[in-house]
Amino acid sequence: MTIKSVSESVIAEGVALLRDGCCVSIPTETVYGLASDAINGKAVAQIFDIKGRPTFNPLISHFYSISHLSDYVELNDTAKKLASAFWPGPMTLIVKRSKNCKISDLTCAGLSTIAVRIPSHPTAQKIIKAAGVPLAAPSANKSGEVSPTSAAHVAESLGDKAPLIIADGQSKIGLESTVIDCTDDRAVIARMGAITADDCEAVLGYRPYVADHNDEKPVSPGQLLKHYAPKTPLRLRAYDVKEGEALLAFGSTKFMNIKNATKAMNLSEAGDLHEAASNLFSYLRQLDKSGVQSIAVMDIPNQGIGLAINDRLKRAVEQ
Ligand code: TXA
Ligand code: MG
Repeated sequence: MTIKSVSESVIAEGVALLRDGCCVSIPTETVYGLASDAINGKAVAQIFDIKGRPTFNPLISHFYSISHLSDYVELNDTAKKLASAFWPGPMTLIVKRSKNCKISDLTCAGLSTIAVRIPSHPTAQKIIKAAGVPLAAPSANKSGEVSPTSAAHVAESLGDKAPLIIADGQSKIGLESTVIDCTDDRAVIARMGAITADDCEAVLGYRPYVADHNDEKPVSPGQLLKHYAPKTPLRLRAYDVKEGEALLAFGSTKFMNIKNATKAMNLSEAGDLHEAASNLFSYLRQLDKSGVQSIAVMDIPNQGIGLAINDRLKRAVEQ
């Protein structure tokens, strides 16, 4: 897989590949995506193949504007309110496909609903606009692995399976988008992310239910799967570091006994949850490669984007 730093000519090269039915890895503000033409079933099939993703797990279609999107989907009042508040940005809405929606059934795993997102990342915006079609794009990692927040992570995870990775620094947010199911009038958060239930409440006037992965029927097929898992076991809410362990810290370590730590990384010394979110996947990857027996993770406050960080950590533990 070739990594190329973003430039107008690299964007043009990526767009030509996408129009040709090939996959290209693109930067977004949440995580890097593995994109292809969402209308072209053959192109979408390559995404499932490269990622080793089960075909019952639908993909997100990416658009550059609400008017681009309105040819393909129906937005009810709930979706319209959330769209005007949080797009472009780190939010995905599950909505109904419109009658003449040309997006491939494979993209939506045969469902009558579709996941749609308008990313704010300027490079992603340019690529989607120039491609002229919605782009199906899951996170650009092998199914079940931690999502990539840099071009190097994509290369590490997918090897040379896609022809081009467009590199544009580190993903600012670092966690996948908040997925909100708007197919009923009452919104349900299917996956936590940077847009929180509090943010939605401010727009909708009520607090949406946050689906739990222990729910009998998860709202998102993807939430059923093993996810966000480093190979090294994690020990959460650690107040000490045992022999052979690495430390994934948050905030001050003044009151922690860390003398045993073989390796230590701090998600945010200042205790900033947004900084911690942007470092999480990258630090998990690095500690996972360091050969330690387990990773002791300090308590992360369960508020704001901290809820999404703890959600990903819990999933990594509960395998
Ligand atoms: O931030 C993100 O969302 C990134 C960037 C690249 O946009 N993409 C991403 O895609 O995280 P992926 O495929 O890793 O996660 C998409 C999630 C999955 O859990 C999938 O099951 C769910 O969205 N999903 C997609 N379509 C759905 C639908 N029609 N109904 C319910 N869930 C759906
Ligand atoms: Mg993913």
